[in-house]
Amino acid sequence: MPPEAKLIEIRNATIWRGTTCVFENLSLVIDQHERVAILGPNGSGKTTLLKALNRELYPVARAGSFIRILGLEKWNVWQLRKHIGVVSHDLHQRYTPTMSALEVVVSGFFSSIGVHGTLASRVTQEQLDSAVATMEQLGVASLRDTPLKAMSTGQQRRCLLARALVHRPDTLILDEPTAGLDFAASFDYLERLRQLAQEGRNILIVTHHLNEIPPEVDRVVLLKAGIVAADGPKEAVLTADVLSHVYETRIRVADIDGYYLAYPG
Ligand SMILES: Nc1ncnc2c1ncn2[C@@H]1O[C@H](COP(=O)(O)OP(=O)(O)OP(=O)(O)O)[C@@H](O)[C@H]1O
Ligand SMILES: [Mg+2]
Repeated sequence: MPPEAKLIEIRNATIWRGTTCVFENLSLVIDQHERVAILGPNGSGKTTLLKALNRELYPVARAGSFIRILGLEKWNVWQLRKHIGVVSHDLHQRYTPTMSALEVVVSGFFSSIGVHGTLASRVTQEQLDSAVATMEQLGVASLRDTPLKAMSTGQQRRCLLARALVHRPDTLILDEPTAGLDFAASFDYLERLRQLAQEGRNILIVTHHLNEIPPEVDRVVLLKAGIVAADGPKEAVLTADVLSHVYETRIRVADIDGYYLAYPG
């Protein structure tokens, strides 16, 4: 990997989902050590963008168009997962309800959904120890043998965050990680994200709630219908004018101790 490589470099990428062209000639560069929030109305392309970064979707191949991650266009998914931990709704839905917390967390080492069959025999003691340690940090160690179906949404989300962190990736990609969490659980989650940001991890977070953007996030990318409608320092993008324009509704914004809050204008 080139030492000064950008974390993400997207040039003129066109990305389809089924019969919908979500992005046409999208360009976006994110440096290493930037902490970025991606916002935008429903259907604007946030999840699609994260899936393209995570190599679940590919741009149309043509000259002058590419998506580079850490300087490379071609990644073996297994190698990429060493650098990037992902928490998303899709992932959440793909787990079977009978899987235990420990199984979910350990599966992070294999970029798999569970650890069945032959995979189970490949789990090392070191990986198990590391899974338990990560679960302890996230306050879910007591749930190690509990099936997902017997956990609250917040506990399940924490298990997924533990899964994303278990192999200590430099970059975390989070798609609405706090959806469905109560105040205590989402504030707790936020606090853990803040710690990870302070430890120097790259964070890319998609959220609809301004108050759930960790204060450590310095840049906001605002998408609208597959176009980057605004991109810049948080304080320049999270303004009443910019948000009201992009969401086509009157929005006011408060900035309280590094946290932002949107309310009707
Ligand atoms: N599996 C799919 N097949 C076809 N089109 C899709 C698929 N998933 C999403 N789309 C379309 O792609 C566009 C972007 O969707 P995407 O999920 O990226 O939006 P989003 O910004 O994440 O929205 P939300 O805030 O609702 O999560 C939308 O027009 C959507 O209808
Ligand atoms: Mg989405």
